[in-house]
Amino acid sequence: MNDMRCGFPANRLRRLRGNPVLADSVRETILTVQNLMMPLFIVEGKGIREPLASLDGVDHLSVDRLEEVVDPALELGVRSFLLFGLPGKKDGRGSSGSDQDGPVQRALRHMSSGYGNQVLLASDVCMCQYTDHGHCGILKEDGSVDNDSTLKRLGEIAVSHGRAGAHMVAPSAMMDGQVGAIRSALDRSGFEGVSVMGYSAKFHSAMYGPFREAANSAPGKGDRSTYQMDPANGREAIREALQDEQEGADLLMVKPSLLYLDVLANLRRETLLPLAAYMVSGEYMMLRHGARAGAIDGKRSMMEAHLALKRAGADIIITYGAREIARWLSQP
Ligand code: PBG
Ligand code: ZN
Repeated sequence: MNDMRCGFPANRLRRLRGNPVLADSVRETILTVQNLMMPLFIVEGKGIREPLASLDGVDHLSVDRLEEVVDPALELGVRSFLLFGLPGKKDGRGSSGSDQDGPVQRALRHMSSGYGNQVLLASDVCMCQYTDHGHCGILKEDGSVDNDSTLKRLGEIAVSHGRAGAHMVAPSAMMDGQVGAIRSALDRSGFEGVSVMGYSAKFHSAMYGPFREAANSAPGKGDRSTYQMDPANGREAIREALQDEQEGADLLMVKPSLLYLDVLANLRRETLLPLAAYMVSGEYMMLRHGARAGAIDGKRSMMEAHLALKRAGADIIITYGAREIARWLSQP
């Protein structure tokens, strides 16, 4: 080791920070609008655009008013969307989830014919919005979630999304084998071009509260701890993700994101697949509420949080702040 090159005073790291041009040229991580994916909540009916009390800047939208939100997003450069549906009907088997006339399917048809390949249309594949009990799968007599019969339903839902024009499906139910089941269902139906983004490491988190209010998807009885991951388990998260990769996932996701940066960074070293991070509703609203209370600067904290996800290894960042961040990126 050369003494001259290690340690102070020969080494002064501040030399890289004093000149802003140099600082710009050695910056390691650059967040861009291409990284952002924006969630959309589609409801039944007509003429609906209803701001959500629990989730700042997010609306319930009927298909006929989608453009009001999508067009300004496109203008800002946000071109990836993740669709969630709020169906009119719920039952035990989540039958409405694969209805070709359900809100997500109608929105996919509408957007794929209107925008084509200008946009990336991804859809959440789960059952909790469609079941009357609010769990992410079919229940057995004893109230536990039946993994293997749920797989079949998830495959049917994914195929209905593919048929409606989804470019990507994102299974979030945390059933074992869901990526493989969906991949083979899509392939059997001629949708081998539809990609699968696994919600691979999805934790049983307290951070989903505002979303469940927005999506009307909280479980009636019990919780999701028998299928979503224990927040204590970092190694198991890697196993979940690598298993999704083996089952044919094209992208892997970590969710929540800010509280799981270690998982994201570790996973980055374990796989060659692209990674997504989901800044979930509670994480996003923590920042918003903190800024509203005057504790933190809203813009700086929001930008720093999203940059952190990119730095930790995320290619795609799913965020309710997509438009706001796009605006800030275009006018620093
Ligand atoms: C449904 C689903 C959830 C989220 C995305 N898909 C909620 C849950 O598991 O309860 C959470 C998103 C958020 O909080 O922003 N399986
Ligand atoms: Zn679910």
